[in-house]
Parts: sequence; structure tokens; C-alpha cells
Amino acid sequence: MEYTEMETQIHAMDISCPPPEEEPARQYYFIKKVRQHICQKEQEKGRKLTCHIKTFGCQMNARDSEKILGILTVMGYEESDTEQADLVLYNTCTVRENANLKVYGRLGQLKKFKERNPEMLTILCGCMMQEPDVISRIKKSYRNVDIIFGTHNIFKLAELLAMRLFEPDAKRMIIDIWKDTTEIVEELPNARKYSFKGGVNIMFGCNNFCSYCIVPYVRGRERSREPEDIVEEIRSMVQDGVVEIMLLGQNVNSYGKTLEHPITFAELLRQVEEIPGLQRIRFMTSHPKDLSDELIEVMGQSDKICKHLHLPLQSGSSRLLKIMNRHYTKEDYLELVDKIRSKNPDISLTTDIIVGFPGETEEDFAETLDVVERVGYDSAFTFIYSKRTGTPAASMEEQVPEEVVKERFDRLLDKVQVLAAERAGQAVGTVENVLVEEVNGQDTTLMTGRTEKNYVVHFPGDESLIGQIIPVKICESKGFYYIGESIGDSK
Ligand code: SAH
Ligand code: SF4
Ligand code: F3S
Repeated sequence: MEYTEMETQIHAMDISCPPPEEEPARQYYFIKKVRQHICQKEQEKGRKLTCHIKTFGCQMNARDSEKILGILTVMGYEESDTEQADLVLYNTCTVRENANLKVYGRLGQLKKFKERNPEMLTILCGCMMQEPDVISRIKKSYRNVDIIFGTHNIFKLAELLAMRLFEPDAKRMIIDIWKDTTEIVEELPNARKYSFKGGVNIMFGCNNFCSYCIVPYVRGRERSREPEDIVEEIRSMVQDGVVEIMLLGQNVNSYGKTLEHPITFAELLRQVEEIPGLQRIRFMTSHPKDLSDELIEVMGQSDKICKHLHLPLQSGSSRLLKIMNRHYTKEDYLELVDKIRSKNPDISLTTDIIVGFPGETEEDFAETLDVVERVGYDSAFTFIYSKRTGTPAASMEEQVPEEVVKERFDRLLDKVQVLAAERAGQAVGTVENVLVEEVNGQDTTLMTGRTEKNYVVHFPGDESLIGQIIPVKICESKGFYYIGESIGDSK
């Protein structure tokens, strides 16, 4: 739906009646109600009300935060880059313990800001809020929190805010966590971070239950969006100037299975490819067990799908992969990589690896190093295993001692970096098409962009290039990024 059409519908809501039952009209009703309140407050204070969103975790959360900001700005909040705002929202992650610790640390700090601005609202949402232990701790120790919601009801933000502001016992903490849902509410406000690229959810949740991972518990069962809705969203993004999209799902390779008329991920890609004006397609994440020949084929044929695949390995040991519930062996993985490279010889491959999964022996770890060496990843995210309460791995005996894990982690990181630097060096002297994204944070005479293979490139240029895909000569490799020079007009 066009923004103006949504605005017309919000404007037309009669807020003297009870709210409608159906979505998204119900939310439009509450948006209008809160908007009136914010208008009044603006007059009282003689300034705009501000909001600040801090996002932890993955691309899925980043995308959710855009939707949240969309709702907040439509209600009248102005985005602020400091946490001393009228409304502060943390969109949390709980994939590893340290993600949780960060949130508790910051919540303590927010208490002080609230003392200075008693009308300040503190809101928590995201994956961490789906854990009952977290909710008990917040209820007990962080009474300064006003609203908590989870991952299934982001669309209800306006309604929850209205509850907090207008209900008679509105001083209480509003907690609204859903265990799971099959509902997908479309047609809500949305504030995209970039005008030229963006993430598009194609599915929500995860059914894989890898034994270390908390995501299926906090994001619920897998459900796919209708292909028509996805294509329509991308079409309208392209109309607004977007040239690159990233299709998002915990396991995009199982896209479509829950639809009334199932289609495969490769079929969806074919439909997306046909959208005129769209130049680059990325997707994340691919589970190796579900990566089909059809997808490899489509990737090989397409000139819009970027030559980059993120293919999480987790471990190179077939024994551990079984206990991790990954449904592939070391050999399956290596065969898959060969197959992908035979159709897409210069594809860039990246991965995720966990070190110190319960019971990991030196032999298991050596298998991981072996795969890293044989594949030669362009880059790898390496994680120290973190015990997540409620997952099968958390109750496994033989947790690996911290110093052993740390030592293995350093060895892995070394290897990954040396091999990645070698691969990155191969591009020096070539010309790559770069999507120019922003002015370099440190040196403002430089622009920063990404190659099709997802390498970062810094090169001299100016802001007018932002959002364009231009040829850049790669002059120097710094291991993680390149220094380049623009060699002419945009493509
Ligand atoms: N759905 C994606 C990834 C989601 S989480 C996939 O399957 O690849 C991102 C990464 O976090 C995972 O790939 C894994 O490497 C890491 N991870 C998940 N749970 C973890 C845990 N308990 N400890 C350490 N790393 C973990
Ligand atoms: Fe977690 Fe596995 Fe699902 Fe990825 S596929 S989100 S690692 S359970
Ligand atoms: Fe974290 Fe939730 Fe993503 S746990 S990694 S934000 S799905």
C-alpha cells in the first residue's frame, strides 16, 4: 500500500468509537489516538517528542526496527541519536549470553535518564523478551521499563503504547508476549534506513532446532510470506529508488513450504529477478541441508543474484554436526561447496562457525580447521559456544573448559584471517561493480561501498554517488576491505 493511502486510512479512523477488531485497521486506530496525545505533548513542551531505537542481533532484528521506527514516526516521534530521548526502545537479541548482558547494562543507565525526564518511556522487545527468566528479572530489578513485547506482535506497538498512556492503571508495566503465531500483518508503516537498498522478510521463525540454538524458541515456527506480497513490496521499493534487496529468513532454502500453494525459494528468486529496475539480489541465510540443485542453477544463470553465498558450517566434524542436529556431514558440505563452485566458479563463500560445542575434542576441532582450509572462505564469523537455557545442548555434559575453547578460537581466527586475506588479494587489479553506500566514517574524502561479493571498498569520491552502482578499480587489499578508485561513469 502507498504511504499516502495508509495516511488517508489512519486519518479516516473514528476514534470516538471502540477500536475495530481486524488488522491493520485496529493499529491505524491506535496510531491516530497516540498521535493526538503526542501533538498535545509537543504543544506543552514546545518541542518535538523524540525516540531512540537500539538494535541488537541480526538482520531480522534490523528489519523489525525499521518497522518499529515506521510506527513511531507516523505517530509523531522524531528519531534521535541519543538515549536521552522521550522514548527509548531496545530491540534485543539472545543468541549468545553476551547479547543479554549488554541489555542489562544499558537498562541500568536508562534509570538515570528517567530521573531527569519522568515522562520518558522505556520499551523492550525482540528475542530476549521471549524468555520467561528474562521477564522475571526485569520485573524484579528494572521497574523503569514501561512496555515489553516479543517477536510475534511487533505490529501491536501502537496499541500497547495506547494502553500504557491511556488506561486507568497505566502506571503498571505492560507485558504482551505471544508464544507463537501464524499471523503475518501486512500494510503497516515502515521507515527504511537506506533509500537504495533494503531487507525484505520472506519468512519468519525457524523449524530446525539446531541443538545449540535458541532462535526457534524465541522466533516460533517457520511461516512464509505470500510470494505476491514479497514481489509487490520489492516492486514498490524499486519504484522508490532501491537497487539492491536482501531476502531475509533464518533458512531461506525452506521458503514456501508453509504456503497454501507451496513454491520453492528458487522459484521465488525467479519471480523477484523479473522485477524491472532491480539490480542486485542477496539473501540470508542458507542452511546447507536444504540448498537445492535448482537454487545453484538459478544462481549460476542470474545476473542479478550477487555472487556471494553465506553457508554456515558450524563445525567440520560429522560427529558433532549430528549432535548439533544439522542434518549434513563434513563430506556432504564439501560436496555441496564443489557443486556450487562448479556452476559459479568465482562465487564468494562466507560462513558461521561455533567453537567449543559440548564434547568438542581436539580431533573434532581439527576437522573444522580442515574444512576451513579446503573451502577457503572469503570470510567467517566465528563464535564461542554459548550455553542457552532450554536448548538440548545446554544440558549436555562435557562442556569444554574455557581456556581450551579460547585457545582453539584464536587458532581458528588466525587460519580464517590468513586464508581470507589470500582470497581478498586475488581481486587486486580487477574492476568491481560497487554499490556506493555512504561517506567513510573516518575519512570524509572517501566513499564506502560493497562489491557484488560483499567486500567493502573505500575509494575517493563524493556523496552524489550514494545509491549508484559504479565500476571501481581495486588497488589494494587490507584483508577485510579494499582501497580502490572509481574508473568512470555509473553503470
Ligand atoms: N539461521 C541462521 C543463523 C542464526 S544465528 C543459520 O542457521 O545459519 C547466527 C549464528 O549464531 C549461527 O549460525 C551460529 O553460528 C551462531 N550461534 C547460534 N547459537 C549459538 C550459541 N548457542 N553459541 C554460539 N553461537 C551460536
Ligand atoms: Fe538456529 Fe539452526 Fe534455525 Fe539457524 S537453522 S536459526 S542455527 S536453529
Ligand atoms: Fe538474535 Fe533473534 Fe537474530 S536471537 S540473532 S536477533 S533472530
